[in-house]
Amino acid sequence: MPLANYFRKMNEIKPPTFRLSTSLCETCYLFQLDYQPKPSDMFNETYPFFTGLSQNMREHFGFMVDTILSINPINHESFVVELGCNDGTALSFVRNRGVPHLGIDPSENVLRLAENNGININLGFFTTELAHEIVKMHGRASHVFAANVICHIPDLKDLAKGIEYLLQESGIFVFEEPYLVDMLAQVSYDQIYDEHVFIFSLASVKEVFSKYGLFLFDAEHQETHGGSMRYFLSKNRERPMSSRLQALMDAENEVGIKDRGGYIDFIDKCLSNRNDLVDLLTKLKKQGKSVAGYAATSKSTTILNFCKIGPDLIQRIYDSTPEKAGCVTPGSNIPIHSQDELRLNPPDYLVLFAWNHKTEIMTKEKKALPQDQKWILFVPKVEILNES
Ligand code: TYD
Repeated sequence: MPLANYFRKMNEIKPPTFRLSTSLCETCYLFQLDYQPKPSDMFNETYPFFTGLSQNMREHFGFMVDTILSINPINHESFVVELGCNDGTALSFVRNRGVPHLGIDPSENVLRLAENNGININLGFFTTELAHEIVKMHGRASHVFAANVICHIPDLKDLAKGIEYLLQESGIFVFEEPYLVDMLAQVSYDQIYDEHVFIFSLASVKEVFSKYGLFLFDAEHQETHGGSMRYFLSKNRERPMSSRLQALMDAENEVGIKDRGGYIDFIDKCLSNRNDLVDLLTKLKKQGKSVAGYAATSKSTTILNFCKIGPDLIQRIYDSTPEKAGCVTPGSNIPIHSQDELRLNPPDYLVLFAWNHKTEIMTKEKKALPQDQKWILFVPKVEILNES
């Protein structure tokens, strides 16, 4: 598989590739990649993901910050740190309240946007070493949070030790990520790519982080990214576990994420999903229909390469990120165009690669595209929307 976010011009160097395979740890139940490319190959000054591009996500992060700050209310000792702050979308809600804060991110291009937005920043990967430097410079943190970031960090032990060191005794660590149970249930295997080293569950988060002095006391399911879980951890092991967490853990146990059978079933469903998608696109090609993709997501790299879909089946992909226009998709070489071009010349069918933003996209595009625009969805199953 190529690196999922390696969007480059056609004649530039080929994307680096790596072996994409996964395992489940039978001790801590952590679902994980077996191999990962070097983090500096993935997160650098060309990282093409900008949190603030989605209106829904901006609103979501506003509510997330409200929740985090309501658990440990702000006082004169408050200091809020975000790991992987990207363009500063979430931290801007902390800044607006005048609370001391720091955003850490290894990708310089996105971090500069945060800085221009009045966010205090620190360029780099979060490590225990960096945690020591931050404590020296700013003191300990009352709140550490991260959204769609912790699953990107391969050295979980060092990360957990660093967070534990950084936090005040009453401090909390809150993070959210795509949830393993949702991925298995929806066959959203496109969540598996180089940057997602782990797909977490309640069981794995509880087990792994408690070894390093961070104790899960609450969790809240989120609709974002096709089903995510927000985890609340405390340095204080006496903090009581919420009844909401207990109910979620009971539900997770019932699904059987600890059993091999569920994963074998998932593999079978991934293979049939691939067959259904390729069969449909091949049929449309034979009928002479034009087919384009909507959103050149990181996730689409897994779909396109796993299904071996190239420009013969999907002629182009429209994306709202200016940096991606004029590039091709990694490994599958499908040209990427700006979304303004889509509105000028819509294809017969649009494959929705950003299926996790379906509501936002459908609402927005209803006004801009023909009333009878046909969409192809592949999560949870391959289907056509608007086909008469
Ligand atoms: P997302 O599913 O958030 O992320 P990932 O890349 O991690 O899979 O999708 C982000 C991409 O989708 C980004 O390239 C911008 C694009 N996009 C659009 O083109 N239009 C939209 O309306 C939205 C919400 C996203």
